[in-house]
Amino acid sequence: MAIIGQDISQAKNFLKAGKLVAIPTETVYGLAGNALNTAAVASIFETKNRPSFDPLIIHTSSIERVDDFVGEFPEPLYKLAKKFWPGPLTLLLPRKSNVPDLVTSGLEKVAVRVPDHPLTNSLLEILDFPLAAPSANPFGYISPTTAKHVQDQLGEKIPYILDGGSCQVGLESTIVGMENDQLFIYRLGGLEVADIEKIVGLVQIKNHSSSNPQAPGLLESHYAPRKPFLLGNLDELVSNHLRGKKRFGVMSLSKTFKDVKVEYQKQLSPSGDLKEAAQNLFGFMRYLDEQNIEVILAEEMPVEGLGNAINDRLKRAAAEK
Ligand code: TXA
Ligand code: MG
Repeated sequence: MAIIGQDISQAKNFLKAGKLVAIPTETVYGLAGNALNTAAVASIFETKNRPSFDPLIIHTSSIERVDDFVGEFPEPLYKLAKKFWPGPLTLLLPRKSNVPDLVTSGLEKVAVRVPDHPLTNSLLEILDFPLAAPSANPFGYISPTTAKHVQDQLGEKIPYILDGGSCQVGLESTIVGMENDQLFIYRLGGLEVADIEKIVGLVQIKNHSSSNPQAPGLLESHYAPRKPFLLGNLDELVSNHLRGKKRFGVMSLSKTFKDVKVEYQKQLSPSGDLKEAAQNLFGFMRYLDEQNIEVILAEEMPVEGLGNAINDRLKRAAAEK
């Protein structure tokens, strides 16, 4: 199993040797390797079992260091970086030729972000290369928000997990880029659309996958538990399942169900706070996936703020595999 610790110089040594280290961020844990070392990047894909057409995000410690691997920084995107980095925002920027093709799946733009976690930011500062890091889960499964989640699934394949506690945001970064002069959001995430629009005006949302398989790896089914995951009107779903024979679990925003065992029901936020719901989402999905039940029933969140990004994850979890 992987060593779990908080020693950034040990993490640095593994990374310098081309090995992979799981790193905490404010969004989810990442599976990190030297972004400029093709062999290290290849082993990220292999370890996650990720198809090579799904490109990776490069993590660095400051806006200045982006110049090391990015050609040009369009003004509106620079404004967003100034405002929201470090933070849950990923920008698609023209890459320099030192970025391996494998990182971008051959695309001309590279995804970049400065994460916001003290341990990972200190690590990035002492490295002389940036880190490519997808979420540290097997491809298609729920993203990890604790070191233990990573250990449970990838512990046998990597030497070290940097333990930074539970992720504060709990949803992956929001991905923003430009086509011609238009700003697009390619993945809804931990940074709210309204906050972005306050800085750069209206943006278009292109949060879908099927039409564009290589952009934000947003394949229809993703972030998914192994158990069937049904999304709908919870009262109806629960009463139908109470009549059936299958053991089931429930994930609601705040509702409780008196006929369902307490350990088989999870409230994302008893007070209805979407930020708290986002923090709990992936951990609770995993928890229910591990219970002795056959199906998980869930409901969508209010369509506001982070509710949109949470609903995106819920729909993908419910999509047919
Ligand atoms: O919060 C996050 O973004 C986390 C933490 C670890 O930083 N990372 C993360 O990485 O969610 P990953 O690999 O699970 O998701 C990255 C998404 C993928 O859907 C990928 O398709 C998209 O970013 N992406 C990466 N590079 C891209 C590019 N050059 N053009 C378009 N989409 C890109
Ligand atoms: Mg992922």
